Amino acid sequence: MKKILSVLSGHREDIPPIWMMRQAGRHLPEYLEIRNTTTSFIDFCFSPEKASEVTLQPIHRYDMDAAILFADILLVPIALGRQVTFEKGVGPILNPISINDIKRLQKNTNVLKPVYETVKKVKKKLYKSKTLIGFCGAPWTVATYMLEGKGTTNKEKAKKFAYENPGATKDLLESLVEVSVEYLIKQAEAGAEVLQIFESWASDLSPSMFHDLIIKPTRNIIKLVRDSGVDVPIIGFPKNCGLSVLDYVEKTGISAIAASTEIPIKKLRSLIPENMAIQGNLDPLALRLGGKTLEYQVEEVLKNARGPHIFNLGHGVSPDVKIENIKAVINHIRTGNGNYV
Ligand code: CP3
Repeated sequence: MKKILSVLSGHREDIPPIWMMRQAGRHLPEYLEIRNTTTSFIDFCFSPEKASEVTLQPIHRYDMDAAILFADILLVPIALGRQVTFEKGVGPILNPISINDIKRLQKNTNVLKPVYETVKKVKKKLYKSKTLIGFCGAPWTVATYMLEGKGTTNKEKAKKFAYENPGATKDLLESLVEVSVEYLIKQAEAGAEVLQIFESWASDLSPSMFHDLIIKPTRNIIKLVRDSGVDVPIIGFPKNCGLSVLDYVEKTGISAIAASTEIPIKKLRSLIPENMAIQGNLDPLALRLGGKTLEYQVEEVLKNARGPHIFNLGHGVSPDVKIENIKAVINHIRTGNGNYV
């Protein structure tokens, strides 16, 4: 059985399988080369030829155990008729959604078809020992971008909207659930063998808000995906959510938990089902810094990860990470010897 699937089915592998969130991206010169052939990031995500090639780059460069589909969580708002653009140096820009807009959302999931083509193309070329991971953003995380109109640090506008307009918030989350379910099912049908739900903005919510904005919609997604007959493992990544991670594990129906950096994974292991895989949780800053800092932090993750473990970061690879250091982490894990710079 493929290493990642073995771990996700509850087995511990002596040498854990490895992949890294944002492993395909701007730290790779071969990514930039293809990326620079298309101005718009959205057009790039909707080009199966190019997107499939960059999905495979980390497999060729690093021999990662998994490839993650190259796309973005903000393609889903486009399938709800919203405009999304990415500006260099700024990030995503959306027209902030209003209560009236929420009432008038028009589903057009046909726009997502190129993504399934990407999945098929990757699957044809991927080595048999490697796993293809599909993904979507969780509804609240995607909603924060739709409500704020851009990436912000504290999500105050989105949270305020949710407090003041619970009905409209519920409607928005339900629309996102509906599109995300179709998106995940079709990725699995096209060949994705694992799915990950990115809840990048799970922090700073009260427990009752966490329940309404995160647990409920995520649980609905997983239930509806399962009802369709799709049985691939689903990894949940609720970033920086504190103790609510326990409720998330217990109540959403996820198959495995991706831990962000601050989570003591040894402690987490003692609090979740014994055979549930934990993915993570090396500090991305340590990966950027390299040297002894990185070596020590990799050791700590390996030492504290009990039971089924997929080695990953607590968040994504940043554009300034050195290729040599990613290689060193992988060698360290597989051979015991890293060559950190
Ligand atoms: O290797 C991979 O992880 C593959 C594909 C992938 C991307 N984005 C490509 C991307 C995945 C899984 C994502 C998920 C994603 N997108 C998340 C969840 C994970 C996380 O980082 O918290 C979020 C919040 C987004 C939204 C998003 N996309 C933002 C805020 C930005 C701009 C910030 C930035 O880093 O520039 C993006 C753009 C984006 N998505 C890039 C890549 C490689 C960089 C843009 C470029 O290459 O021009």
